Amino acid sequence: MSTAIQFRKGFILFCCIVVSYITIAVYKRDVAQGFCDILVRSDGHAQSIDHFKEALAKGQQRWTSNENTVIVGREFFQYLASQLRETAYPGVDNYTQYVVTRLQLKPLRDVKPLRPDFGPVFNDVKSFGYPIEIRPCREDNVRGLPKLFVAVISAPSYFEKRDIIRQTWLRQLQTDSLVNLVGFGFVIGRTDDRDTQQKIESESSTHGDVLQLDMVDVYYNQTLKVVGLLNWINDRCSGVDFFLKVDDDVYVNTQNLATVVKHLDPAEHSVYGTASDSIVRRDGKFEISPEVWPWSKYPVYSMGAAVLMPGSTMEPLLAACQTTPYFLFDDTYLIGLCTGKAGIAVRVSDRFLAGYAQQMPEPCYVHDSIAWLTDSVEHLNKSHWASAEFYKNVTTCIIEGLDGANQTVDQTKEIEFYFARSQP
Ligand SMILES: *[C@@H]1O[C@H](CO)[C@@H](O)[C@H](O)[C@H]1NC(C)=O
Ligand SMILES: *[C@@H]1O[C@H](CO)[C@@H](O)[C@H](O)[C@H]1NC(C)=O
Ligand SMILES: *[C@@H]1O[C@H](CO)[C@@H](O)[C@H](O)[C@H]1NC(C)=O
Ligand SMILES: *[C@@H]1O[C@H](CO)[C@@H](O)[C@H](O)[C@H]1NC(C)=O
Ligand SMILES: *[C@@H]1O[C@H](CO)[C@@H](O)[C@H](O)[C@H]1NC(C)=O
Repeated sequence: MSTAIQFRKGFILFCCIVVSYITIAVYKRDVAQGFCDILVRSDGHAQSIDHFKEALAKGQQRWTSNENTVIVGREFFQYLASQLRETAYPGVDNYTQYVVTRLQLKPLRDVKPLRPDFGPVFNDVKSFGYPIEIRPCREDNVRGLPKLFVAVISAPSYFEKRDIIRQTWLRQLQTDSLVNLVGFGFVIGRTDDRDTQQKIESESSTHGDVLQLDMVDVYYNQTLKVVGLLNWINDRCSGVDFFLKVDDDVYVNTQNLATVVKHLDPAEHSVYGTASDSIVRRDGKFEISPEVWPWSKYPVYSMGAAVLMPGSTMEPLLAACQTTPYFLFDDTYLIGLCTGKAGIAVRVSDRFLAGYAQQMPEPCYVHDSIAWLTDSVEHLNKSHWASAEFYKNVTTCIIEGLDGANQTVDQTKEIEFYFARSQP
């Protein structure tokens, strides 16, 4: 295993776009096929471009596999890489070509493609294990209310966060009957700690709302976790109108969520959230190296902490994940790369994930927002009381009317949320 990784690391591949830059006619055919062809030699052996061309002309240096692979020196690779660096994001197909060539990914020929027209399969998105499961979604129709499945992304040891959600907005969603909540689950990965695992098992038998995936629950595996969740929904919850995915530090204003879900069309090929800035960071927590992501920006994507997706997008999204190499950031990957591949629009509103709320959110903030971030269990709890008081008309939201006079917002009136269609 580790020698295989070393081998892979050693040979860094490069992309077809660049091949066409240097117009090596020999490779035109492979470019068209979408597979690429330049490897970097791991020994760092420097070779000049002339040497490279010469070698090519003589037919040397071709990798002897029938994939038409060529090995080049690292110096030459660096030259090629520098050509792509900080250029515009070239679309998901070129991303796929780039990663496939860089990591020398081989299509998984024994995995059945969900959408043959999406191209070769690189990720086995259908074979996740689920050590702890929730019930499949209910199928019943309730007074024509939209069927909603809610998944909260959590981590094995975050028992308190899950509890406060059960006591606050989740209970509200279950009792208010503003939507038809056909399924709910906290999504966690595997833990090696036996005590934690036992606690999770008893939590699951008490509440029946834990969906555990058979994968190590670490930051670097978030993308896998989200794809594993998508697969579960696609298998067990396919009749759902909408799927809400939120993190366990998000407070959901269930009134506004219900309003949104009621007014959106579940057949529309869009996902809904709040746009992120798409800035590629070369240091800090969200650092990504130019080798992994050479381009200057990410595609437009929405912040992963709160996203609403119609059930009809689950299958195409999963098919897109099957054919798009994984990327570290799950939100960029799912709502960015995979939506692009599946031809699903990303629609955004600043009111969806309204940012970090004040410790005691203002009545007008509650009125205007669908969800927001909290920094602690107490903060989430306070958000709940601030919301409850606003909707019970204990607190009021006063705004300046068009005539300049103050007016009290009627908290019983639904608000309209507008989702801009962001350009891919
Ligand atoms: C990306 O790929 C498409 C084909 O899918 C191609 O037309 C385009 O020129 C490529 N490169 C860039 C920089 O967009
Ligand atoms: C991610 O999960 C997979 C599957 O369990 C595991 O093989 C891999 O080691 C995990 N990655 C990390 C960084 O733990
Ligand atoms: C949440 O707030 C309520 C009311 O203020 C309080 O009774 C309860 O103990 C709080 N729960 C937590 C976990 O902080
Ligand atoms: C809410 O309270 C205000 C006064 O605080 C009152 O004017 C208004 O009619 C109340 N609205 C509802 C719907 O009860
Ligand atoms: C509107 O309310 C604000 C604060 O609540 C107050 O300072 C302001 O004087 C009011 N304006 C009018 C026109 O009543």
